[in-house]
Amino acid sequence: MLPKLTWSAALLAACVFAFTACFGGGDSSSSKPSSASSTVPSSSSMHSSSSGVMDKVESGASDVMSGAMSDASDAWSEAVSDASDAMSDARSRLNAREESGVMSESRPAAAEAESSWALRLVNAESPLPEGFSVETRAIPGYENREFDARAADALEQMLSDAEAAGCKLYLVSAYRSVARQDALFRRKTEAFMEEGFPREEAERQAARYVARPGTSEHNLGLAADIVSADWYSSNNDLTTAFEDTPHFAWLAAHCADYGFILRYPEGKEAVTGVTYEPWHYRYVGADAARAIMENGLTLEEYVGKT
Ligand code: DAL
Ligand code: ZN
Repeated sequence: MLPKLTWSAALLAACVFAFTACFGGGDSSSSKPSSASSTVPSSSSMHSSSSGVMDKVESGASDVMSGAMSDASDAWSEAVSDASDAMSDARSRLNAREESGVMSESRPAAAEAESSWALRLVNAESPLPEGFSVETRAIPGYENREFDARAADALEQMLSDAEAAGCKLYLVSAYRSVARQDALFRRKTEAFMEEGFPREEAERQAARYVARPGTSEHNLGLAADIVSADWYSSNNDLTTAFEDTPHFAWLAAHCADYGFILRYPEGKEAVTGVTYEPWHYRYVGADAARAIMENGLTLEEYVGKT
């Protein structure tokens, strides 16, 4: 485990990188992958088992090109000020949510009640019980993206605040049925068998990447695979290369504010049983998320099951 100071420094660096990358002329991520639908009305169901900121930055850059140094300086100041306002607005919205009791930390009783479901450990050693069910609701703007109804607001808020801050994200996957997980696990296993692994070893290797059915946090309804919209359009896959994007930096720096953690960090496979996944975020509630992210922990370590 990294010492606390090192992790704090890393988080601070991530904040600076995210801010610089998102507001300093990096990827504006304005387009959405074609697989995303326009708008899907929210509904609940049970399942068994700123581009404006970037415009300012680009406008400032254009002024520099024309040689009007003082104009450029003004435009840059304006862009930085707008970016700062966007961050401040996002923080105000989050604070308003906390004050209204939507987020857990302003309601100790609710936080306590929340921990039992939000901190539920699901992994190879702790599968979901047979017949597990969860109430989910659709995430607007996507087709077939359901999330635990108790945590869906937090996910939506994180996605919309990221977009307002100039980091447009894309939700690749959320709740999955056990049947769907089974199909994904089989596909991964077959890929290893095609490489020459006997079935048992192929399954063991596959489980490092895709959880066996009934042992995935996606079955629980509290896991979200998130990358950037532009990145997914061009890669159409989930790879560790996502960590080299400003969108990952934003997520790493801010996910805990919304109750999410980077669930499978680099170098923790011995603890989680899963390889590094910079795209997989797990809702655990804001208090636990901050403690986990600030101390470089995994959920296993946080709940004391390592
Ligand atoms: N990729 C993660 C481990 C899952 O399948 O849940
Ligand atoms: Zn995932």
